[in-house]
Amino acid sequence: MNKIYSASTTAPVNIATLKYWGKRDTTLNLPTNSSISVTLSQDDLRTLTTASCSKSFTEDTLWLNGSKEDITGSKRLLACFRELRELRRGVEAADSAALPMSEFKLHLVSENNFPTAAGLASSAAGLAALVRAIADLYELPQDATELSKIARQGSGSACRSLFGGYVAWEMGSSPDGSDSKAVQIAPVEHWPEMRACILVVSADKKDTSSTAGMQVTVNTSPLFAHRINNVVPQRFELMKKSILDRDFAQFAQLTMQDSNSFHAVCLDSTPPIFYMNDISRAAIRAVDEINRLAGQTVAAYTFDAGPNAVIYYLKENAQVVLGPLKAALKSQDGWASASAIKPEVPTSFE
Ligand code: PMV
Repeated sequence: MNKIYSASTTAPVNIATLKYWGKRDTTLNLPTNSSISVTLSQDDLRTLTTASCSKSFTEDTLWLNGSKEDITGSKRLLACFRELRELRRGVEAADSAALPMSEFKLHLVSENNFPTAAGLASSAAGLAALVRAIADLYELPQDATELSKIARQGSGSACRSLFGGYVAWEMGSSPDGSDSKAVQIAPVEHWPEMRACILVVSADKKDTSSTAGMQVTVNTSPLFAHRINNVVPQRFELMKKSILDRDFAQFAQLTMQDSNSFHAVCLDSTPPIFYMNDISRAAIRAVDEINRLAGQTVAAYTFDAGPNAVIYYLKENAQVVLGPLKAALKSQDGWASASAIKPEVPTSFE
């Protein structure tokens, strides 16, 4: 019997506050703009992955939430395996006692503690956990930023899930992707009062995948060039500063503006891409009203490639934000099915 070697790890979901939308290289997943995200609490939304390898394994295999996936056509996943094996070969070359794990097939078992189809950035957590688990199994010396370049090739936003707290994905300029990487802007402890709640408006799979949607936008939207050249670069710097300064009003305004800008370029695409629905728009109006009544910006909405809302707020304003939000939910047709205002999912980043 050949021995089985294993390593397990978890990776959290991240929700972008400055959106990645557009690839300048679809193979390497190089983005057309830098982005920023907040990593959610591991207790609430995370992927747990175990990576194993053995001389007796006959093929690379992935089990996702209990089902065996067909990964033979998954270029993205295979690129991650290839890059990680390459790094392992470096370990083996440096240490003649190191096992030739780069030659062994891999078995990966991955579980999410939330519905995969709910449009809650499951691929980000999934690919980040997969890369981290294999890197741990291979005892790679590379740090999270180096590994983020590999996770990025699996799923762009996954590169940001290798860090907790407040994270930037710097787009880089090199054609080989060597400077397109994630870095931590600040750890959770820097601004521990931040909270997020998720309104699960629909658990359906999204209509247009992010990869397909991005290409339609890049190829057809006249507004897109304005967004990436004239809007996002300044917003990236301002948002970083708002995080470092713990300036919630500024952070929230920029977050909402960027969600709107992202959905505007989707609408400006041909054919147009609609990710938000009537319930999403009601959530926007509810947040606007909460801020108006508070006389200051105490809540920020953001929407990814789907109708679910993520609302950011500070712990001290939980009642001011969540009370009226729940009331607004009840008064809307369709909110009942979206009963899932889940202030407990996730409640904190602690
Ligand atoms: O990483 P992908 O291919 O799942 O794309 C993510 C796109 C958005 O979630 C809409 C934005 C982002 O930055 O996460």
